[in-house]
Amino acid sequence: MFMDLIRKRRSVRKFTDQTIEKEKLELLKESALRSPSSRSRNPWEFIFVTNPDLLKKLSEIKPHGASFLHGAPLGVVVLADPERCDVWVEDCSIAMIFLQLAAESLGLKSCWVQVRKRMLNDHVSAEEKTRSLLGIPEKMKVLAILAAGYGAEKLEGHPEESLMREKIHTNTYGG
Ligand SMILES: Cc1cc2nc3c(=O)[nH]c(=O)nc-3n(C[C@H](O)[C@H](O)[C@H](O)COP(=O)(O)O)c2cc1C
Repeated sequence: MFMDLIRKRRSVRKFTDQTIEKEKLELLKESALRSPSSRSRNPWEFIFVTNPDLLKKLSEIKPHGASFLHGAPLGVVVLADPERCDVWVEDCSIAMIFLQLAAESLGLKSCWVQVRKRMLNDHVSAEEKTRSLLGIPEKMKVLAILAAGYGAEKLEGHPEESLMREKIHTNTYGG
């Protein structure tokens, strides 16, 4: 059941060295391509990175929050052509969450690595670095990378009591 899946879901940043089966990789690709997008413009594209050298290089695209790509068996780079759709950020974010939840349903764990608006240093953006590492054309924008694999740490889902019920309003703000 979907609710069980999201009740258990957590971001995991440590992976075993077990590779992801080809069938599961194919299901992840299908999930990405089944993501809804504004006006069905499908502006996104996906780079499935399994090469350990490339994953290590991707783990260094920004100083914090990407290191676990080194040691992950898979990184899925989600990028888009902004000329195809003005709301490509939303489209790519939805594709990221489709991938993340599909991974969870297949017994894999994952974590989002933000690329858009992140910097490697004062001069180079995480996006520029990703683009040069993977040969991505200038016109394409990179949203994020999903690191995925078999989890090497067990995190409990967020407990019911931790949900911020005050963030839910009924009919009017504050209602
Ligand atoms: C838009 C977005 C960007 C994120 N970027 C990163 C990131 O760059 N590095 C990282 O380690 N985690 C990143 N995360 C994961 C969050 O830190 C994580 O989802 C949050 O701490 C809640 O933990 P949980 O997913 O286990 O519930 C990102 C999550 C989202 C939704």
